Amino acid sequence: MTLLITGGAGFIGSNFIIDWFKNYSENIVNIDKLTYAGNLENLLSVNNKNYKFEHGDISDANFIKKILNKYSPRVIINFAAESHVDRSILQPSNFVNTNVLGTFNLLESTRFYWNKLEKSKKRKFRFIHISTDEVYGDLSRNEKPFSETSKIKPNSPYSASKAASDHFVQAWNNTYGLPVITANCSNNYGPFQFPEKLIPLLVVNALSGNFLPIYGDGKQIRDWLFVKDHCLAIRLLIKKGKVGEVYNIGGGNEKTNLEVANDICTILNELSPRVDGKSYETLIKFVKDRPGHDRRYAINSKKIKTELNWRPRENFQTGLKKTIKWYLNNIDWVKNIQTGEYRKWIKKQYGTNR
Ligand code: NAD
Ligand code: DAU
Repeated sequence: MTLLITGGAGFIGSNFIIDWFKNYSENIVNIDKLTYAGNLENLLSVNNKNYKFEHGDISDANFIKKILNKYSPRVIINFAAESHVDRSILQPSNFVNTNVLGTFNLLESTRFYWNKLEKSKKRKFRFIHISTDEVYGDLSRNEKPFSETSKIKPNSPYSASKAASDHFVQAWNNTYGLPVITANCSNNYGPFQFPEKLIPLLVVNALSGNFLPIYGDGKQIRDWLFVKDHCLAIRLLIKKGKVGEVYNIGGGNEKTNLEVANDICTILNELSPRVDGKSYETLIKFVKDRPGHDRRYAINSKKIKTELNWRPRENFQTGLKKTIKWYLNNIDWVKNIQTGEYRKWIKKQYGTNR
């Protein structure tokens, strides 16, 4: 039996693969285009004969067809995406190509594959689509957290592309009966996250004495989910999730960006004090805001908690400390991904080489 993972060389996908082999021995095939965000170094610890990597694009119908016929997966988990909001503002076309057209292609190829499966395999097959809370738009301070029935109201090119992919996934269930499940989760953090996203960016900048950029007033709120807790939720969805349903997954840790920055500085002050004796907080700098910046995300995870008995194991303090320790112990991983490509992006986004 085999699980087919798309985008498994990225942040959440690689954590999922590592987590899977800690719990099961069932085969995994990872297909990844290896964009700037895909890094096979994330998977160096997966020294398992049941793991296979295939380099390719979810938008390539011939490639997907070949992979489906070669491995006959019982489950597909679609992590592959362009995932960074700031990049989607500068260059939206990649987001339409992978998140919308790529997902469409994967669904179509899967439909043909699934239709030919024998009855019992067809019944047990699952297509799990990894989406985001950003499809629900944003919340004011007093509004209730997003539930599965909240209105879909995306604001950025990234979230619009993810919302479009979610609609396609649901349509393939309603129209063709493809057994899909969609997971809409909040901001993940943890090991192997590319340092363009807030938490690793702040940690990496702080350790090299660079400024800590906070967009606008820093009062935007995100609901932080430790990546291993997300992996656990996905494992439960494979086992017990209901076909055709959407599940929201949130860490229950609403924090302003400024609070996150201060928490990171406090932990770094303790674990890796600066040589000049100053506190890391002095590096915090308010910078120009992100256009169309969503003010608040918060997730109501009641459904996955009651139906699948999922509970996050980490709170923000324990998860953040683990994450920072991981970055401190894996500085070489950071150095290796700071390629010319990465530098070019930082320069374009922040107008400096920092
Ligand atoms: P990531 O950017 O770290 O990784 C994405 C991976 O997909 C990379 O390995 C990349 O090479 C691969 N990829 C991109 N385009 C591809 C294509 N056309 N074909 C095959 N592979 C391709 O992303 P992530 O943070 O790990 O996010 C994974 C999924 O979870 C995404 O769908 C994202 O929208 C969703 N999500 C992420 C978060 C978060 O906080 N990181 C939160 C909610 C949802
Ligand atoms: O909510 C889930 C989403 O979380 C995922 O779907 C996305 O793939 C993921 O990238 C993330 O999106 P965000 O835009 O919330 O994450 P990011 O880390 O880019 O930013 C988090 C917050 O921090 C956001 O309010 C913007 C702010 N920020 C970000 C960066 C990179 C800063 O203030 N400074 C920064 O330098």
